[in-house]
Amino acid sequence: MIPELESLREQVDEELKTARTEAEFQALRIRYLGRKGLLTGLLRNIANVQPDQRPLFGKRCNELKEFVSAKIDQHLAELAVSEKEKSLRTERIDVTLPGRAVRYGSLHPITKVRDEICGIFAGLGFSIEEGPEIELDYYNFEALNIPADHPARDMHDTFYVDEKRVLRTHTSPVEIRTMQKNSPPIRIISPGKVYRRDSDISHTPMFHQIEGLLVDKGITLANLKGVLTHFLKKMFGEETAVRFRPSYFPFTEPSAEVDIRCVICGGKGCRVCKQSGWLEILGAGMTHPQVFKNVGYDPEIYSGFAFGLGLERIAMLKYGISDIRLFFEGDLRFLEQF
Ligand code: DAH
Repeated sequence: MIPELESLREQVDEELKTARTEAEFQALRIRYLGRKGLLTGLLRNIANVQPDQRPLFGKRCNELKEFVSAKIDQHLAELAVSEKEKSLRTERIDVTLPGRAVRYGSLHPITKVRDEICGIFAGLGFSIEEGPEIELDYYNFEALNIPADHPARDMHDTFYVDEKRVLRTHTSPVEIRTMQKNSPPIRIISPGKVYRRDSDISHTPMFHQIEGLLVDKGITLANLKGVLTHFLKKMFGEETAVRFRPSYFPFTEPSAEVDIRCVICGGKGCRVCKQSGWLEILGAGMTHPQVFKNVGYDPEIYSGFAFGLGLERIAMLKYGISDIRLFFEGDLRFLEQF
């Protein structure tokens, strides 16, 4: 039996030399040392060995078992070390490489202008009101003193939802809703989307307005002038010249259009101000007595003023943008400049 042991030793030596992977070494362990392994089998057959040789045979068998087991352990330990070195090498991070810049979002220019305007009026004690974009004809026109046959309706290019409902053409209906819900004093502004059937370099079917309304006892045109002049100087700079021109709106009397000295040419006359030196910025007026009657306010007791302005127009003037459609194309190269 000793020669068999010798040849098994040579065989295992060979196999230990050719094994490479962890799996191969584990297989070797099972092949020689497992319950049905070659060495285990040899030892189990000790009964076939001459009695006087059994102690020596048993000793050699155990020596070989320990030798094989130690060898496998040693190889596995070496493998683990070299695996670790390999992964350290391949997963190395070069901390001196420049980092990848995180892309920040930015506020839309219309949002920025809206927030700025709301901030100025908040400073004067105005609070914010909102209203629905699908609006009853009654609020959008009728209650604002624009009956069905009124020529002012032609200016609005209205999208009709059905007989009674429209996409609101301005933010003025929020005035009516606010007055119906509250009694004076009232001091609100209302930013939001409005819709008109119009599309070219300075018109889009959806755009943004801000409405303002102040109602109390003893409000006069002087208050309107004071508040709007303050607002325009905060918005465009203290040196900005402001002028009020008589105009017409069905829901105010008297009505005015408010201009500022052209921010592009300083008043000399240019393409943007159409050589007039002035830019039209907002519509305004003293709330019409009929509008007060429509919401149940007594026009003998209360007076007030209202105004409305387009956000796109203000943003275009403030940032020098010549095509309104840029606001709604979602082009990051444009939007990231703000
Ligand atoms: N609603 C008007 C428009 O869209 C703007 C406007 C003018 C609003 C005069 C007002 C106002 O409150 O008093 O053209």
